[in-house]
Amino acid sequence: MKKILVVQYSQTGQLSKIVDSLCRPLIASRDIEVVIETLRPEKPYPYPWSFFKFLDVFPECVALDPPALSPLTVGGSEEFDLIIIAYQVWFLAPSPPITAFMQSEQARRLLKDRPVITLIGCRNMWSRAQETMKQMLNDTGARLIDNVVLTDQGSWFASFVTTPRWLLSGKKEPFWGFPAAGVSDRDIENCHRFGLAIEEALKHDRERGAAPLLYGLKAVEADISQVQSEKAGHRSFLVWGRLLRLVGKQGDRKRLPVLAVYVVFLILMIITLVPLSVVLKSLLAPLLKERHLKAKTHYEAPSGSGAERMEVFGCGK
Ligand SMILES: Cc1cc2nc3c(=O)[nH]c(=O)nc-3n(C[C@H](O)[C@H](O)[C@H](O)COP(=O)(O)O)c2cc1C
Repeated sequence: MKKILVVQYSQTGQLSKIVDSLCRPLIASRDIEVVIETLRPEKPYPYPWSFFKFLDVFPECVALDPPALSPLTVGGSEEFDLIIIAYQVWFLAPSPPITAFMQSEQARRLLKDRPVITLIGCRNMWSRAQETMKQMLNDTGARLIDNVVLTDQGSWFASFVTTPRWLLSGKKEPFWGFPAAGVSDRDIENCHRFGLAIEEALKHDRERGAAPLLYGLKAVEADISQVQSEKAGHRSFLVWGRLLRLVGKQGDRKRLPVLAVYVVFLILMIITLVPLSVVLKSLLAPLLKERHLKAKTHYEAPSGSGAERMEVFGCGK
């Protein structure tokens, strides 16, 4: 009998649906026991968010300053054959409940020397957060063997509109030619392929090796131009986040004027620097081909974006 621990937190329920879809084949298997640990912040985050509360959490997100969690159901002394950490990205960092788990004493004990699969459900900017997650996993002595990323449907511009609308109003349905917000139902449903592949790998003890279990299943696709924008965005979040933490604690109205200035700064950056960098990047693209390929391999590791096993596990290419 193999034991899998799944750690998750979800605000709107989207990530829980992704976890359910992936875990369905594992839960159905007679040879596998699945323990799901759902994280609960002592002080729940609001949903839908007010604009101020939404922005006000960013300094603590990027500083990896964790909120208090309600007691976990796992103690820390249990031994799991595989651990799946499902998380969403908040302001280019793992969401605070997951950061809190990663910094807990239980995580330190549970994760040491264990194979870990990270499962991300987010808008489409995840590469910085995953670098942070890799560091946190390293600190606990865990072995990252796979990373699966699901991103919101539609173009970059479409989700730039639909995701904030969803989070600030609770409205997810399509409107004005934009698709529905969030990860598509089809992508969520197709996550069962990962569960099937994990079940198959566990039968052969492959989780004990170093090779990914989920290669060839389109587990992740890294967009390198996005990665570069994330680096710049993360730097700006760090600087402004530090300033905001000097002004007051999370929820303190004194932060409001600084946040207002930051929003104006962000909008100016987006209007001026983003189009400029798009033009520059397309001009330099032929020269940087090799470098981009190397970066793509790095950010897509360990699972990669190959599709060669899609049909084996019930999904067309
Ligand atoms: C405060 C906040 C900040 C977010 N920042 C990002 C981000 O930087 N990158 C990204 O791709 N998605 C971001 N998202 C979207 C989430 O990653 C996620 O897709 C969405 O919140 C739904 O997750 P749920 O399963 O918890 O409901 C953010 C969401 C929230 C609430």
